[in-house]
Amino acid sequence: MSAHSHSHSNRNTGDPLMDTAAHHNLETVIAPWVSTFKSFLRSAAAKHNGQSSTAALDGPVDESNPAPSYPFTLSTVSVSEFTDERTGETKSFVRPHARTCMFRGFAFTPNSGILTVTTDKRMAKFDQIVRPLTHGAFEACFYFENDLVQFRIAGSCKLAFLNHSGEVYLSDPAKGTEEPADDSVASEFYKSWTVLSPAMKLSFCKPPPGAEFSQEHFEQLEKVEKATNNVRNGEEIPEEFMAEGKKNFVLIMCSPELVDFTNVSGIGQRILFERAGEYVWTFKEICP
Ligand SMILES: Cc1cc2nc3c(=O)[nH]c(=O)nc-3n(C[C@H](O)[C@H](O)[C@H](O)COP(=O)(O)O)c2cc1C
Repeated sequence: MSAHSHSHSNRNTGDPLMDTAAHHNLETVIAPWVSTFKSFLRSAAAKHNGQSSTAALDGPVDESNPAPSYPFTLSTVSVSEFTDERTGETKSFVRPHARTCMFRGFAFTPNSGILTVTTDKRMAKFDQIVRPLTHGAFEACFYFENDLVQFRIAGSCKLAFLNHSGEVYLSDPAKGTEEPADDSVASEFYKSWTVLSPAMKLSFCKPPPGAEFSQEHFEQLEKVEKATNNVRNGEEIPEEFMAEGKKNFVLIMCSPELVDFTNVSGIGQRILFERAGEYVWTFKEICP
């Protein structure tokens, strides 16, 4: 990405250096950081040992074209309110939580910029995101080692998961809503479940993540391990495991508001991209 000396408003193109005719639909409107991000990701993934293909970054994801998976750091926050015993005041305790997750490609369209991550409903991050106080806040940090490049992508997450009656629900903590998902979200949810490897599907049947380990948990883990070995030998996933896994499966969709691109090679470069409207991004070069 080359240097810019002033701030731009860019409402329509995938490339901050270009300014083409306006487009107003999701298919063609590309946030100005997306193509740069994808090209760094592609070359980093190619160098990452054992990394799966990133072909799906540009095409429809299906079983023959699985979602890319590339590790990055996903941070969320927890906010807990408590009463100060001395003063009786309600105070809040805020803590950041960072962990490694796999980037599973962009939701809906190959250039939407909406990062997807799969997780387990029983993990702490689900509660952290879903709690209204945190507004679903996230920051994703990608480090592309070979290029000395970092992308910090911040915004708010939405969660798609099955409710008690097996219907896909969408939680949007920034808006404070939780309602039946529309068809496009439901189809993203099922697609991301379908393209998971059988071993990944079975991993959602493990004993509750974070619970203290017990004999009962050990036995559950052994059952999952056995089923995993069986699917490796060509057997199907037993139906009760499929149902259990799907029940715990969650698709996190992270919508960026702020993208901080930092390149520390040479004299360095830093560009800050900011969402200014549904399809409008501004960007400016800032001191590295
Ligand atoms: C290489 C690697 C990839 C991981 N990918 C994911 C992932 O895609 N989703 C996820 O929920 N956890 C993933 N984890 C596990 C998380 O780092 C974390 O331990 C787990 O999600 C529990 O986090 P939480 O208690 O903050 O929710 C991964 C861990 C490693 C080491």
